[in-house]
Amino acid sequence: MSTTSEDVRASFKLAMRRFPAAVSVITSADQSRRHGMTATAVTSLSLDPPSLIVCINRATLLHDIMSVGRHFCVNVLRSDQVELSSAFSGAVAPELRFDHGRWLTSEDGVSYLDDAQINIFCRKVAAVPYGTHTIFIGEAAAVKLRDPIAPLIYQDATYCVSVARDGAAQSCAANH
Ligand SMILES: Cc1cc2nc3c(=O)[nH]c(=O)nc-3n(C[C@H](O)[C@H](O)[C@H](O)COP(=O)(O)O)c2cc1C
Repeated sequence: MSTTSEDVRASFKLAMRRFPAAVSVITSADQSRRHGMTATAVTSLSLDPPSLIVCINRATLLHDIMSVGRHFCVNVLRSDQVELSSAFSGAVAPELRFDHGRWLTSEDGVSYLDDAQINIFCRKVAAVPYGTHTIFIGEAAAVKLRDPIAPLIYQDATYCVSVARDGAAQSCAANH
């Protein structure tokens, strides 16, 4: 067991890498610009009301835009959308990111991915700063689901896909 704070930080990081998580692109807009960023820190909060949290680093451009914007969208990626995840996590400059993928605009003025696994359209209801991040709470206003169910998963810094196997738990196979 790790005891010093440096030990705990290192082992905590390793522990977090072992958490499999669906990969999303979070999109939002202020009066003058739209932006999107890859995130895995997206978690269900409650069903009543239907709500979720996303944890966004305060150093990011998306943080500035979400702090002002009143709506955001969680676009859960499909397993064949690794390139989109890379584009929206820094491989492509912010203003060019939406050239990748088919993007539409919601009634609330937020860009959403037309062929994502899921779009969850949220109204921002709270923002809770904690350490380097802010926890944004969103209440779901609308949801679009698409089949087949094959979300892009990130585990141990590797993109994975969940694979159905008869009589066994789903296994996570490396994608890239
Ligand atoms: C798979 C993956 C998951 C990520 N998850 C998060 C996250 O949950 N929260 C966060 O703030 N940054 C996360 N990042 C980092 C941001 O995507 C990255 O720092 C981004 O380029 C910075 O955003 P900006 O261009 O809006 O400044 C993740 C990156 C990757 C590749």
